[in-house]
Amino acid sequence: MPRSIAILNQKGGVGKTTTAVSLAACLALAGRKCLLVDLDPQGNATTALGARKGGSAGSYEVLVHSRPVRELVQSTATPNLELLAADASLQELERRATLEPADRDTYCANLQDGNASIEFVLFDCPPSLGWLSIIALHAADAFVVPIQCDSFSLDALESIMLSINTLREASGGDRNRPSLRGILCTMFDESFNLSSRVYQDVRKQYAERMFRVVIPRDPVVPEAALRGIPLPSYDPTSRATVAYVRLAREVLLHEGTATR
Ligand SMILES: Nc1ncnc2c1ncn2[C@@H]1O[C@H](COP(=O)(O)OP(=O)(O)OP(=O)(O)O)[C@@H](O)[C@H]1O
Ligand SMILES: [Mg+2]
Repeated sequence: MPRSIAILNQKGGVGKTTTAVSLAACLALAGRKCLLVDLDPQGNATTALGARKGGSAGSYEVLVHSRPVRELVQSTATPNLELLAADASLQELERRATLEPADRDTYCANLQDGNASIEFVLFDCPPSLGWLSIIALHAADAFVVPIQCDSFSLDALESIMLSINTLREASGGDRNRPSLRGILCTMFDESFNLSSRVYQDVRKQYAERMFRVVIPRDPVVPEAALRGIPLPSYDPTSRATVAYVRLAREVLLHEGTATR
């Protein structure tokens, strides 16, 4: 079975999509078969991989209409990297007042089905802890929380972790699943004192649960997203690419598959 990792944080613009796309692309370029599942109605991961939003059926059809993942995945220009696209139809799910546990379980099973040949499934979540993030948390083995280093407080991180724990408990499953794979500092700016202070504060509190690598602020990141080319293909030597390659290495080391 693949390892599945949800990238989530209810705060907007913290680098979730950049992390989901770049980590998936780095793992894929390292020879791991990856599937990126776009679960955000904004469809930013879809466009960042050069696919058209609404161009063909994607995650909504899999979740709600039980269409097979294998029928709807799209190959991408990056070898080993497939995409299950998203579009605005996902908003219908996010807006639902309630989600029956049986439906949630069906949606998770639909997402997981047919991925036997995939090594890593990454879920890009919307900026909320609504039903789509709940489904991702339920379907994933682990989750990653990106935090934006230059506009962040420790209180905000504690509130995110609390909300995620509440969700995990409410989902009624194993309290340790999904496990926190790591907190990732993004958009780190060395020239900005606040970035270092935030990093030090978070490190004091969450030491072993933080990724060692820090993602620097790098103008190449929005450029690559705009062109629909994943960072490691757009500029393999950029500082942000080098950092995401290290992130992929940390993830592989944790999975115990780094030397394969
Ligand atoms: N390391 C970085 N350096 C410079 N810009 C970055 C970096 N990471 C992300 N960005 C830019 O910041 C913006 C927000 O990033 P991204 O879309 O990844 O965040 P998000 O958490 O997915 O947002 P949302 O909550 O809206 O889904 C984008 O314009 C992106 O290109
Ligand atoms: Mg996003």
